[in-house]
Amino acid sequence: MQILVIGSGGREHALAWKIAQSPKVSKIWAAPGNAGMSDVAECVQISATDIRLLADFAERKRIDLTVVGPELPLTLGIVDEFERRGLRIFGPRKDAALVEGSKVFAKSFMKKHHIPTGFFQTFDRSEEAKRYIEEIGTPLVVKADGLAAGKGVIVCFELPEALDAVEKIMEERLFGDAGKRIVIEEYLEGEEVSFHALTDGDAVLPLASSQDHKRAFNDDQGPNTGGMGAYSPAPIITESIHQQIMERVMIPAVAGMATEGRAYKGILYAGLMINGNEIKVLEFNARLGDPEAQPLLLRMKSDLIPLLEAVVDGRLRDQTIDWTPDASVCVVMASKGYPGPYDQGATIVGLEDAAAEPNVVIFHAGTSRTNNQVLTGGGRVLGVTGLGRDIQGAIAATYRAVKKVHWEGAHYRTDIGVRALAKVS
Ligand code: AMP
Ligand code: GLY
Repeated sequence: MQILVIGSGGREHALAWKIAQSPKVSKIWAAPGNAGMSDVAECVQISATDIRLLADFAERKRIDLTVVGPELPLTLGIVDEFERRGLRIFGPRKDAALVEGSKVFAKSFMKKHHIPTGFFQTFDRSEEAKRYIEEIGTPLVVKADGLAAGKGVIVCFELPEALDAVEKIMEERLFGDAGKRIVIEEYLEGEEVSFHALTDGDAVLPLASSQDHKRAFNDDQGPNTGGMGAYSPAPIITESIHQQIMERVMIPAVAGMATEGRAYKGILYAGLMINGNEIKVLEFNARLGDPEAQPLLLRMKSDLIPLLEAVVDGRLRDQTIDWTPDASVCVVMASKGYPGPYDQGATIVGLEDAAAEPNVVIFHAGTSRTNNQVLTGGGRVLGVTGLGRDIQGAIAATYRAVKKVHWEGAHYRTDIGVRALAKVS
């Protein structure tokens, strides 16, 4: 089979790396890909959002299956366009990807289908939003309705902060049209987990549990980022919490989408807040988490291709997934300045040395290659990912490799996985 992977981040490198191990696959293409992906795939310079060009390419090269990494092409309707042309593609259609593309839709959907989530109100006029904030007081969370590259969520502990958030999103349009409408919702306390499942619109097959570290600096300090590291399994997901998530969130969500005529096919990712025995959904995503994909795919023993095909063909009910009992940790190494404006073009050294560490894979996120040198080219640059017999072993293997990689201004957290370690020791 020939596979096309769409995207250029660490998640897409992990997907291409995993797909390359399938005996069913003869060739992988990546659009646009990154320097690391070129080890397993041929990169083609087509943007992940240029849907027409991507479909033309898939037709011309007779691609057997296209796998979409990021959310933006999904919410723009890449799956609809490929299906219209008779091309096989993995991911939800535009009307189903709305669970991630619109927070107003997602919250109303949860309410309608009795999926546990914090209370909320939606607004399309800033004066009314501000009045509501003054009425309910803080803490609360202000969210732009549309996609805002992970930045459209503002957690507010003080009233002025919350009023300012409304002004920035709705009046100044900091995130463009994503801020035409907003959701104001209950601030939830607890521990966040990422729960992923494959679904063909009917059957729901959960992936292993995982957690990410969203804040930029150690001890969950500093601004929110796309994710500075992740690990799997997440010890907070006990058997009983797992059951609850399946029964109260994942199965009703997939069934609810089907009854609304938006059958959901692909990966459904619920961002959940766990507080004791209580679970509440923070958000749904229409794709794998990044960096959660990196430790998850490192732990997956099953061939990924038959699973993706079973989703596309509506045969998921017969499938199972094998996981290694080993734990996995991913440490993101980022450019100086990230998550703010960041440096680019620094030369990365030590990659070969680090990759020689046993049980470690270095997934690239924002990198490029010139004259045999690998340069930084994004905020999140690498996702160094390791396996160990337990979380402690995985942490040790991963940081041994991390310490061998250097570039001017590189920064990373040194406490990835400690939350899990505290629970198991
Ligand atoms: P989201 O893009 O909705 O996942 O929000 C980004 C981050 O903001 C989440 O990962 C949480 O850390 C935080 N967050 C979002 N919604 C809430 C909430 N209702 N209560 C507390 N924290 C939240
Ligand atoms: N790691 C969080 C996300 O992918 O949304």
